[in-house]
Amino acid sequence: IPVEPFDLVIFGATGDLARRKILPGLFHRFRAGQMPSDAKIIGSARSEMESAEFRTLVGAAIAEFVAPDLRPQDQLDAFLQRLDYVHIDATGDTGWDALQKILRPDTIRTFYLSVSPALFGAIAERLSTHAIATPQSRIVVEKPFGHDLESARALNRDLLRHFDEAQIYRIDHYLGKETVQNLMALRFANSLFEPLWNATHIDHVQITVAESLGVAGRGGYYDQSGAMRDMVQNHLMQLLCLIAMEPPSKFTPNSVRDEKVKVIEALDPVPLRDIVRGQYRTGRDNQSYFDDVENPDSRTESFIAMKLTVGNWRWANTPFYLRTGKHLRDRVSEIAVIFKDPPHNIFPNKMEGRKGNALIIRLQPDEGITLRTTIKEPGPGGMRLTEVAMDMSFADALGKDLTSQDAYERLVMDVIRGDQTLFMRGDEVEAAWAWADPMIAAWEEAGQRPMLYDPGSSGPEEALMLMHQGGRRWRPIG
Ligand code: BG6
Repeated sequence: IPVEPFDLVIFGATGDLARRKILPGLFHRFRAGQMPSDAKIIGSARSEMESAEFRTLVGAAIAEFVAPDLRPQDQLDAFLQRLDYVHIDATGDTGWDALQKILRPDTIRTFYLSVSPALFGAIAERLSTHAIATPQSRIVVEKPFGHDLESARALNRDLLRHFDEAQIYRIDHYLGKETVQNLMALRFANSLFEPLWNATHIDHVQITVAESLGVAGRGGYYDQSGAMRDMVQNHLMQLLCLIAMEPPSKFTPNSVRDEKVKVIEALDPVPLRDIVRGQYRTGRDNQSYFDDVENPDSRTESFIAMKLTVGNWRWANTPFYLRTGKHLRDRVSEIAVIFKDPPHNIFPNKMEGRKGNALIIRLQPDEGITLRTTIKEPGPGGMRLTEVAMDMSFADALGKDLTSQDAYERLVMDVIRGDQTLFMRGDEVEAAWAWADPMIAAWEEAGQRPMLYDPGSSGPEEALMLMHQGGRRWRPIG
């Protein structure tokens, strides 16, 4: 079903994110027939170029990032015809009138700021003073949304001066991932799990977002951020919220986001002893974090694991373990909900190595759900127990085409539709920084150095210990 007619302006249209994700994503939606035939996509950036040159650039980006069988030439040509380019100086006066002229008066205008957050305020202001933004317009901003609470508040203030909260779409691309959205369906469209979804039945939750790549190529940004700011404050926090939130009364953007904010606000402060920070050292191929970020004194973490608790009725004393890092053994993102043992064991034979019931939600790769259950070991050996996985891969169950959409594709279409459910509200981002800031301050004050780990490993030993102290075990990475 095509969305309403729209004009989409991408600031930073020649940048990496636009080339890799936003423009290929729009092309997929165009091919799927979701884009109205008169939709306009207007690229804008610092460099001067003609629309024809921009189309060539976008054509090259799509050739690079979209598989050949998914980009028939006639469709690619038709898509490129939807593109224009306007050279705009984000902090000056050049280009704004030209942009105004190209936009249609009664069409939804969406401004996608795929630029440094330092430019959010300047662009928002010019969109408003040049009367380009209308009350129906939408503005989309990328992460990082601030570096701490103070800077996030300043960004919110800058945007809110010219746009209403209902017009602002703060992207966390994890919320656009199919399985992440499925968390809500799993929890709130089934009656099976919800009665067990609490401290009485759940022993603990593990959230892992492991990456196999290091930070080479974006060391400058990363070294100023580290895993806490780059991943935990946003992506892992969103996953935690979806697992821990109360059922919203309606599936509306604000009901969902109200419940997420409550989770963040209920998080207990995490003492330093429950946090393990790691940094990858020189590996076999001689890559070290220091070289990747060109800073031999860096104390920034490329790995973090922590144990936290949500101070509310549902989750009292149920630990949530979060873990994320670069250069780990494999690229795996998953949430494991580990249930408590049955209250009374009637079976005489002890099962060695029993892990217990678990619901494992695989976010990537191979999105799916596994339910670990205990059954009788087949055969004549008496009542012996074993554990099996009831495994469901979304691609197998629903078809590859349905599950292979990229997060950006879905999120951009949600913006055009005006659905804010999968975008972070201003107070949500601020609450997440308010939670993260004291931890960052504590390790900085303590002058803490991260623990070293080998590239290709599961992170520092200390992270394993964090789990062992509670008599628990991390699921293997890969
Ligand atoms: C980004 C982080 O937001 O998410 C990157 O800045 C990280 O450091 C990336 O690699 C991970 O996203 P995905 O979709 O590949 O899991």
